[in-house]
Amino acid sequence: MEPDVRLVAFSGDHLADFALLAQDAEVRRFTRFPDPPRRDFPQRWLERYEEGRRDRTREAFAVQDGDGTFLGLALAVAIDREAGEAELGYTVAPAARGRGVGTAAVAALTRWAFDEQELQRLTLLIEVANVASTRLAERCGYVLEDVRRNAYVKAGPPTRRGDTAVYARLR
Ligand SMILES: CC(C)(COP(=O)(O)OP(=O)(O)OC[C@H]1O[C@@H](n2cnc3c(N)ncnc32)[C@H](O)[C@@H]1OP(=O)(O)O)[C@@H](O)C(=O)NCCC(=O)NCCS
Repeated sequence: MEPDVRLVAFSGDHLADFALLAQDAEVRRFTRFPDPPRRDFPQRWLERYEEGRRDRTREAFAVQDGDGTFLGLALAVAIDREAGEAELGYTVAPAARGRGVGTAAVAALTRWAFDEQELQRLTLLIEVANVASTRLAERCGYVLEDVRRNAYVKAGPPTRRGDTAVYARLR
């Protein structure tokens, strides 16, 4: 059965859960969140997304269950309104992994982007080594278009690089 997930506009109320998630080894390994996270990272991240919400270039949702428990993040990390395109991102809290939460959250985020934002093309950038995420992408209807070999992932030290799959889905 598909888990009950809701996307709720991310706000300061979610910062404590966010800070915990940012410490998780898999998040540090496979996302562009800084590794290790600096103490002021959650607050700075929130400010960047609040600014993005105002100018419509980014959006962040907390993923919650029916009781309001925090399960993770569903993000439009970069929205290009002129091009009708966005890059999406996601993380699931460690305790909620492996039971379909990520798949349900990305399916909902995809519907939001196509139906409410009227975007035409959505992309996911996933390190090839991140098997759970590539399976999730395929399950949500994203198609592998390219593998960028040894591509830049994030600042270090040491600078992090990796073979990065480009998945996309069209409206
Ligand atoms: C990737 C991530 C979001 C997946 O979330 P999740 O809720 O555990 O995913 P789901 O339960 O919906 O499973 C998605 C698919 O991955 C598979 N999967 C889940 N965990 C796995 C693991 N550890 N190894 C291999 N496959 C795995 C599931 O079986 C499922 O595939 P299937 O439908 O073919 O069976 C989660 O592991 C996570 O937050 N990882 C750290 C952050 C991250 O990598 N974010 C994405 C950056 S691109």
